[in-house]
Amino acid sequence: MDMLRTEGLTKHYGSGERRVQALDRVDLTVKKGEFVAIVGTSGSGKSTLLHLIGGLDRATSGRVYVEDRDLFTMDDEELTIFRRRCIGFVFQNYNLIPVLNVYENIVLPIELDGEVPDRAYVDEIIATLGLESKKESLPSNLSGGQQQRVAIARALAAKPSLILADEPTGNLDSRTGQEVLLLIKRISEEFGQTIVMITHNDEAAQAADRIVRIEDGRIAERTNEGSGGFRI
Ligand SMILES: Nc1ncnc2c1ncn2[C@@H]1O[C@H](COP(=O)(O)OP(=O)(O)OP(=O)(O)O)[C@@H](O)[C@H]1O
Ligand SMILES: [Mg+2]
Repeated sequence: MDMLRTEGLTKHYGSGERRVQALDRVDLTVKKGEFVAIVGTSGSGKSTLLHLIGGLDRATSGRVYVEDRDLFTMDDEELTIFRRRCIGFVFQNYNLIPVLNVYENIVLPIELDGEVPDRAYVDEIIATLGLESKKESLPSNLSGGQQQRVAIARALAAKPSLILADEPTGNLDSRTGQEVLLLIKRISEEFGQTIVMITHNDEAAQAADRIVRIEDGRIAERTNEGSGGFRI
């Protein structure tokens, strides 16, 4: 089954002479449980694609279906609710709330949704990410790698079926980055989640089931080769 499908996805920014065509008729399909890495040079349209897939921005034309639901037919409120329930975001600048401790940050989206967090599940994620001793700490007292792991825990806590990550290892040293990446992969395998991850990092891309390259807003090449066989 498809988790995600884009059809002719096109995004322009600005108008007239300053018009930028950030995405040009992108057709991308991602299956349930698949781990896809998006690669491409700076300015090629990767973040734009991820934002549209996550319903954070509206396309100029084209469609995005997540679990067969057409995102662009939803109004803003429907989209916000759908996003909170189905999609977990991991951004490079962690977006943690400074006055909330680690545990509170992780369960915030669940509570915003008016739900009660599944404590056992949240504790399992926290343990898997090695954050037990930091549950009560404020983000400002954590290292960059730890903050990134909190952001990942928060993305996973609501059990989203789709995880969208924009350079999740971009601010980390290579060893911590590799650890975080393996954790994302392991947790998503354990819980059957689908991952779309932007990365500049070759090693990170190799961890994926498939690599999609974006050039000038278009999909340049696809491969179904698994880790190891594909050169960037
Ligand atoms: N809000 C915006 N307004 C105008 N132009 C934008 C906006 N956001 C992105 N762009 C332009 O759209 C194009 C694609 O940008 P995007 O952020 O998707 O690239 P990217 O592949 O994520 O790059 P990077 O690897 O540097 O993060 C670029 O030319 C960029 O300058
Ligand atoms: Mg980007």
